[in-house]
Amino acid sequence: MATPRLSFKLSQGVLNTIDPPIPLAYTWAEKYTLSRGPLLDLSQGVPGTPPQEPLRAALAEASAALGSFGYCPAEGEPALRQAMAPEMRALYGDGTDITPDDMALTAGCNLAFVAAIMTLADAGDEVILPVPWYFNHQMTLSMLNITTIPLKTRPEDGFTPSVSECKALITPKTRAIVLVTPNNPTGATYSPALISQFSQLARASGVALIMDETYRDFITTAAPPHALFSDPAHTWRTHLIHLFSFSKSYGVPGHRLGLVVAGPAFQKPLRTVLDTLQICPPRPIQRALAPILGALRPGVADTARTLAARHAVFAAHLPAGWAIRSSGAYYAFVRHPFAGRASADVCRRIAAELGVVLLPGAFFCDAAGLTAADDRWVRFSVANCDDARIRAACERLALCEDVFGWERGGA
Ligand SMILES: Cc1ncc(COP(=O)(O)O)c(C=O)c1O
Repeated sequence: MATPRLSFKLSQGVLNTIDPPIPLAYTWAEKYTLSRGPLLDLSQGVPGTPPQEPLRAALAEASAALGSFGYCPAEGEPALRQAMAPEMRALYGDGTDITPDDMALTAGCNLAFVAAIMTLADAGDEVILPVPWYFNHQMTLSMLNITTIPLKTRPEDGFTPSVSECKALITPKTRAIVLVTPNNPTGATYSPALISQFSQLARASGVALIMDETYRDFITTAAPPHALFSDPAHTWRTHLIHLFSFSKSYGVPGHRLGLVVAGPAFQKPLRTVLDTLQICPPRPIQRALAPILGALRPGVADTARTLAARHAVFAAHLPAGWAIRSSGAYYAFVRHPFAGRASADVCRRIAAELGVVLLPGAFFCDAAGLTAADDRWVRFSVANCDDARIRAACERLALCEDVFGWERGGA
């Protein structure tokens, strides 16, 4: 039966926004006949291992506790905001100056981004996003009728954005620069020096610097991701908005928990937005995490080391012609060897005929403006699998030429 048409209009912002792209990749995979073995899903950035046992036990108890059933404050449970302060110090260094008043907990990091943007921008304003971008960020801006200003990044720079190019894009309508580090989709981790320069640019230009650090716990080098929180002049509270997701580090994407760290002058209007969007974040996961957060830290670090080792397995087994240009945390951004073939076509055929689900680079930019030379990238997620599946996926990629009758080559 045909779907009945609506008798009312839809929001222009929603109509102007792309459909969620991941379901499209799964429609390609539906055509796969299992001819090469089980489907290998390297598409979604979801944790590949269950939450640590103490968290599962704490969550079971917290879910049934009478205290979990009502609302909590819009900015989240005081106990978890309190417990996050030492966590932030453990990660960003002893000089880190963050108090519970600088924090709000949200129903996931995506909602944290929506709320932050709603707090600082209006329809017609501009927000700068490095390209390739995390598609949900661009979709949020589009839905709110905020103009996305693309800041191109290049493979020869390891897909890190240029501060001077960003500066040239700032106009009186610019409200924020958004950085994702470690990056989705490229896996690139920006250096503390680069982050510091972006922070100075944002502050000097009177715009916010939104840093989505969802994957920060998967950085395996000993140095903190950046030094902004330990600036002796405490300037970070004037312009920095840090976003974090508990989904990946603690393996709980279904429990929806994220964090906004920003100064109290931003927290106040943000809480108005959060009151309307979430009333409060889910309580059981907050109550489960608060007392055991520090005890979970070694397990989170183990996962980070496992993922780093898996990247090495991936690099060692990737067939000739495929070139990793940046990788880290959950993702590797890889140049496919078939000049003139669009990344979506490459991924469609690999899913349908070889049973490996990947996401084309075209999902992470304005596909309409993509040139053939730029459309050579494929995102691999190494998180939601194991080493054996990574090796098996690489073996299947080596079949592309024979199965598709394609030739490798081209600049
Ligand atoms: C950069 C980035 N931010 C946010 C999210 C979503 O996080 P959450 O599950 O907390 O909404 C993701 C998930 O893939 C992501 O890659």
